[in-house]
Amino acid sequence: MREKIKEIKNEIEVFSAKSAEELEQFRIKYLSKKGKLSSLFDDFKQIANEERKEVGSLLNDLKNAAQEKINNLKQKFEASQSTVGNDTDLTLPADAAEIGSRHPLSITRAKIVEIFSRIGFTVSEGPEIEDDWHIFTALNFPEEHPARDMQDTFFIHKNPDVALRTHTSSVQVRTMETEKPPIRKLFPGRVYRNEAISARAHCFFHQVEGLYVDKNVSFADLRQVLLYFAKEMFGEDTKIRLRPSYFPFTEPSAEMDISCFLCGGKGCPFCKHTGWVEILGCGMVDPSVLENCHIDSKVYSGYAFGMGIERITNLKYRVKDIRMFSENDVRFLKQFSSVI
Ligand code: DAH
Repeated sequence: MREKIKEIKNEIEVFSAKSAEELEQFRIKYLSKKGKLSSLFDDFKQIANEERKEVGSLLNDLKNAAQEKINNLKQKFEASQSTVGNDTDLTLPADAAEIGSRHPLSITRAKIVEIFSRIGFTVSEGPEIEDDWHIFTALNFPEEHPARDMQDTFFIHKNPDVALRTHTSSVQVRTMETEKPPIRKLFPGRVYRNEAISARAHCFFHQVEGLYVDKNVSFADLRQVLLYFAKEMFGEDTKIRLRPSYFPFTEPSAEMDISCFLCGGKGCPFCKHTGWVEILGCGMVDPSVLENCHIDSKVYSGYAFGMGIERITNLKYRVKDIRMFSENDVRFLKQFSSVI
């Protein structure tokens, strides 16, 4: 009898059901009226008195073990059935994965680079933490000169010779110091100014600088290249206008306006009824800047221009608040997902 109990106990222990039907077969085999355990209980009646207590308890344990096994397996089947309920349609397509979009400033930067690369400009970059020479002195901003106040600079306290660059013109200097003409380059990058943050100004923004140095470069070359750029960027009908201006590193200097693309130049609230909107600064590289970079100004001349990427993006996509570009609000960023 003890042998039989042991044998059945083993069978119960190793049993596992793959389906509810299999489990039911198991129950019938062991616990039904005609099952193995019932027949053991029948045998029990014939057992000697002195053994009754011990064998009885073994039999009860066996019955409990069988019942427990059934309960556990039943629970398992019920749990897996509730997740694959009738209302789950496994043939439905999965949720679409969210795909990010390019940042509007990256889109504009790439567009500017692409337009100029078609006429031979290549890209170089320089450091954002710069020394005084590259940001100011080499570009004709003498010390104590009021022109330095045009750009509110973040200086490093411990070393006033080091600052966050206020413009990408510093990379012009680095390039002219290390490369020989002809130089035809674009310098995109981030710049910093100590300005109060508002819808129209930020303490950091982005510029693209352009530089061409070669023999016989003229103001007419500059004008033609900028006209080409304006048409490619804002549309074939775009006109440009150059107004005299002042930058320490260019002579002559100019600011460029494009005809208002909303009213076509007739005048509207967007262009403050002038028909024109300003987009960049430019000029002929001052001969003393060429000399500061060891380029012979009697042999070579050059032009330079610089524009704000935020400004071009604001104009092209009518973004009214410059802070949107650095807030990372996906509702704003997603609007550019279809722009390539
Ligand atoms: N560096 C000027 C600024 O940040 C922009 C600029 C003006 C760049 C004229 C140029 C230039 O290269 O020729 O305001």
